Amino acid sequence: MSKKKVFVTRRIPQPGLDLLKDFDMTLNPEDRVLTRQELIAGSKGKDAVLCLLTDPIDGEIMDALPTVKIFANYAVGFNNIDVEAATKRKVAITNTPGVLTDTTADFAWTLLMAAGRRLVEADKYCRAGRYEGWGPMLFLGHDIHHKTLGIVGMGRIGQAVARRAHGFEMKILYTDEFRLPPEKEQELRATFVSLEQLLKESDFVSLHVPLMASTKHLVGKKQLEMMKKTAVLVNTSRGPVVDERALVEALKHQTIFAAGLDVYEEEPRLAPGLADLDNVTIPPHIASASIDTRAKMATMAASNIIAFFKGEKPPNIVNPEVLS
Ligand code: DGY
Repeated sequence: MSKKKVFVTRRIPQPGLDLLKDFDMTLNPEDRVLTRQELIAGSKGKDAVLCLLTDPIDGEIMDALPTVKIFANYAVGFNNIDVEAATKRKVAITNTPGVLTDTTADFAWTLLMAAGRRLVEADKYCRAGRYEGWGPMLFLGHDIHHKTLGIVGMGRIGQAVARRAHGFEMKILYTDEFRLPPEKEQELRATFVSLEQLLKESDFVSLHVPLMASTKHLVGKKQLEMMKKTAVLVNTSRGPVVDERALVEALKHQTIFAAGLDVYEEEPRLAPGLADLDNVTIPPHIASASIDTRAKMATMAASNIIAFFKGEKPPNIVNPEVLS
């Protein structure tokens, strides 16, 4: 039997590529995002595509690639893929949930602490040779311990962020479309509130919602105005959940204290003025970027493709209805 053909749109960690050894695999040789045309050209005639969150996959692309029966996304978020269009065409979509939960939660905390205690700003100051000795007023930030943490979106990652807050003896508020069962709330020591109450009462607000029509600009000018002047906003979910231009204004006028962002509204572009601000920490979408986790994401994406062609249900199928 001829080998199934897989196109991998960008280099991923080797363990995932090794798993695909029994396939006829083609890898984008360049470590960069492909253009739409390049993605189509590379995927032409293939049976499967292992794609990334930076590859927009819509109905038109699927129509241009009628042989592709599965797009295995190398990410837990799959807002880059039109799942409805895929389901209509009986194309399977998979993602990589679970393996990056703790790594992303660790990083949300990295941002929370860095922004709250002004770490990047202070580091730049030292590197610039400006440190002339200890000073009582040097880089005063905000305490984290015993403060209130507001978690917007209490799914897997939100819950992992909440667990980490116990060590800091924080009060935890959360909001979500669905309320957790009482035992879960007790275990997480988290209180369910409205978004408005959460924004008004939290010292740190961390966003963990998927990007959907209902979460686009969930935090805009009005919501930023509800936050405390001393508050820190952390976003490791998706950029468009925050109105980035409104955030630039809020940070510029210090109507909130600081922000830690891993994701941007128009990645990789940053909103005008964002990079000029000292009170924002802006890494390049690396919340899941630990060596171990990225390798697990790679094997998970590959395993979804393998299961699909074995005639099994891919473990992380997003649209299982295409299998029936
Ligand atoms: C995801 O998986 O959705 C992250 O944003 C990237 O690792």
